[in-house]
Amino acid sequence: MKINAIEPAGAFWQPGDKFPDDLPQIAFAGRSNVGKSSLINRLLGRRKLAPISSSPGKTRKIHFFKINGAFYLVDLPGYGFTRLPLKVRDKWRALVESYLEGNKDLRGVVNLIDIRHELSDLDRQMLLYLGEKGIPTLIALTKADKLGYARRRRMAGSIIEELGGSVTLDQVVVTSARTGEGCDSLLDAVADLVAPPGKS
Ligand code: GTP
Ligand code: MG
Repeated sequence: MKINAIEPAGAFWQPGDKFPDDLPQIAFAGRSNVGKSSLINRLLGRRKLAPISSSPGKTRKIHFFKINGAFYLVDLPGYGFTRLPLKVRDKWRALVESYLEGNKDLRGVVNLIDIRHELSDLDRQMLLYLGEKGIPTLIALTKADKLGYARRRRMAGSIIEELGGSVTLDQVVVTSARTGEGCDSLLDAVADLVAPPGKS
């Protein structure tokens, strides 16, 4: 898929808000600091569209980016950042849950997992939730540039094994926001979620 137009840069959504229109949405979810905002920026070829930080908890609102006038990429706040006060964590969780719950425009979620780490309980909960809701899910393994080729393959293999029967191989993409690895495949997979082949 080719990106021709992005707008508006940084529209927010709050519980109770209506969505700007009823275009399909693809949301990026995952632990705080896993690289959601970085990957969105890389996919869109813009370095500073979604705010990024080396300290977890950078994204505090739900950011909408309208792509090619056809669908939205949605940058969610991360989960599981334990150094934040429980109150703040609960608030973000409520924000993300109210976004996901009953969202009829949500066509899929890209769930990000750091390729260097095992799945956390929160990752499992999220994947379970998505499975129960029947929300199509892609897995992006992030920060692949941080590992050599052999370790990367080994980690990807063991994460896929951990995911068990819940995902198929073609739903898992190894990515790097730094080098751009996997970004074309991920964008194509996202485009297929927006407009499933054979269903248009
Ligand atoms: P929250 O908004 O807190 O949930 O975090 P996030 O998931 O949006 O992560 P963000 O994109 O802000 O990135 C967190 C840190 O990881 C930043 O320091 C990024 O530069 C770094 N990072 C993200 N992606 C990559 C990657 O592919 N490779 C490397 N080496 N670093 C990355
Ligand atoms: Mg972020």
